Amino acid sequence: WADAGSGLRRVLLASPRSFCAGVERAIAVVEQALRHHGPPVYVRKQIVHNARVVADLRARGAVFVDDLDEVPDGALTVFSAHGVAPAVRRQAADRGLPVIDATCPLVTKVHAEARRFAGRGDTVLLIGHPGHEETDGTLGEAPGRIRLVSDPAAAETVRVDDPARVSYLVQTTLATDEAAGVVEALRRRFPGLAGPGSDDICYATTNRQRAVTEVAGRSDVVLVLGSDNSSNSRRLVEVAERAGARAYLVDDVSRVDLRWLAGAATVGVSAGASAPPALVDEVVAALTALGAREVSEHTTTVEDVSFTLPKEVRQP
Ligand code: F3S
Repeated sequence: WADAGSGLRRVLLASPRSFCAGVERAIAVVEQALRHHGPPVYVRKQIVHNARVVADLRARGAVFVDDLDEVPDGALTVFSAHGVAPAVRRQAADRGLPVIDATCPLVTKVHAEARRFAGRGDTVLLIGHPGHEETDGTLGEAPGRIRLVSDPAAAETVRVDDPARVSYLVQTTLATDEAAGVVEALRRRFPGLAGPGSDDICYATTNRQRAVTEVAGRSDVVLVLGSDNSSNSRRLVEVAERAGARAYLVDDVSRVDLRWLAGAATVGVSAGASAPPALVDEVVAALTALGAREVSEHTTTVEDVSFTLPKEVRQP
């Protein structure tokens, strides 16, 4: 990093950034399970979509599997923050696996809405990204009755059973502006469209997007800490770009390409809801070593959300 930063003066941290309450809870579930039961603790899928978090928990005895078939009989199993389809719960129950569910309560809320809407006979349109674990889990609540709509073009063509009985739900980590565009397109086609009682896009997603948008408007380049498979981290890069900055997603400081910083006086920094704060500290230390004299924070909201742990791992 020796002389790439001539001209770099300022680091602007977006706040809020990094861990949300759902991610803190999911990580605490695995940590407490390891403490109470000892390793190994099996985790279906990545507990949260972050390489550093997964590597750290793996080193402490967590075993990450893609499928319950890979879990030995009787082994303690954790469901990840993104939630699971009922079929997965049934499979675990059929095998008698002891399960601790680390699904974020805000994802659980979307599942409950899916059951409610489908149960009253609606076709449910889930606005989200195909192949993401959260959407797979929500779609599994009412197979055949819930359809995925990934963009405004899909909203124009999706088929429903009865245009008068249509409702929509939203993946918790989407970009708020993108989701609004899809809802608008759906409402044009289905004027009676019903929606969730309160916004499905979660507080943490909304707050991080707002903060990074404001920081992007004041920065030459934005670095977002987060992993490639993290939906909310990728959305932060996209909204920063839409706000006019060059923006890059990096797993950690070693992935920053110094050419990105050439000519930049102000570097904005944010982190996805699954990315640990230490990753941000490492980037800030490197930018400071590179010559940035001023490190400041641009705060758009102060968060005070926390979720209680599942009873299986609650301290007495
Ligand atoms: Fe939950 Fe939102 Fe975090 S849905 S896991 S609080 S990004």
